[in-house]
Amino acid sequence: MKAQFITLDGIDGAGKSTNLAVIRNWFEERKLPVLFTREPGGTPIGEALRALLLNPATKVSLHTETLLMFAARRQHLEEVILPALEQGVHVVSDRFTDATFAYQGGGRGLDFKQIEILENWVQQDFRPDLTLLMDVPLEVSMARISQTREKDRFEQEQADFFTRVRAAYLHRAAAAPERYAVVDGNRDLAAVRADVEAVLCRHFQACAY
Ligand code: TMP
Repeated sequence: MKAQFITLDGIDGAGKSTNLAVIRNWFEERKLPVLFTREPGGTPIGEALRALLLNPATKVSLHTETLLMFAARRQHLEEVILPALEQGVHVVSDRFTDATFAYQGGGRGLDFKQIEILENWVQQDFRPDLTLLMDVPLEVSMARISQTREKDRFEQEQADFFTRVRAAYLHRAAAAPERYAVVDGNRDLAAVRADVEAVLCRHFQACAY
């Protein structure tokens, strides 16, 4: 099996961080070569753009915000993701282009077709092999965000914004079920963990049952 590009996405507060640790353990236990990275970010210029994009003091138009997400992504692809995959190292990215469709498209209302144009230009036909979509009801997401001490520019958005973000994620997952695994994050940790592990086992056919 060629090296796989796996992404983890979902609304803020869906439990991505906890499950990144589960995914990390899963790869470590099997001694599979893997690189963990994130978006926006993953490179020096990407992390600088991340700081700007997440800073609540930043004033930026929707088109510029979208272009900066894709600028960070292009650098991430050239500098980190594609070289790792070429060397046979699996890559797990904490967010990728689904987040642009969900946040800039669903949340902020940018036409999905315009995002597709950028996706095709920046990535050509490169897409994740597997996307784990962490999903929780809006109330759970909002409750978790409210516990965050310093909210970033996106976390400061209101409930209706996150309703649209979540709907866009679920819509994308329903349209391409072969690529997405939707994980219900609104259960106890052990149940969520078992689901995430089962998804990886299925994808890699790497577990004895
Ligand atoms: P996080 O890494 O803590 O999830 O924060 C990243 C934030 O950036 C999150 O609120 C989602 C947002 N984001 C977008 O709006 N568009 C994108 O394309 C990406 C990658 C992230």
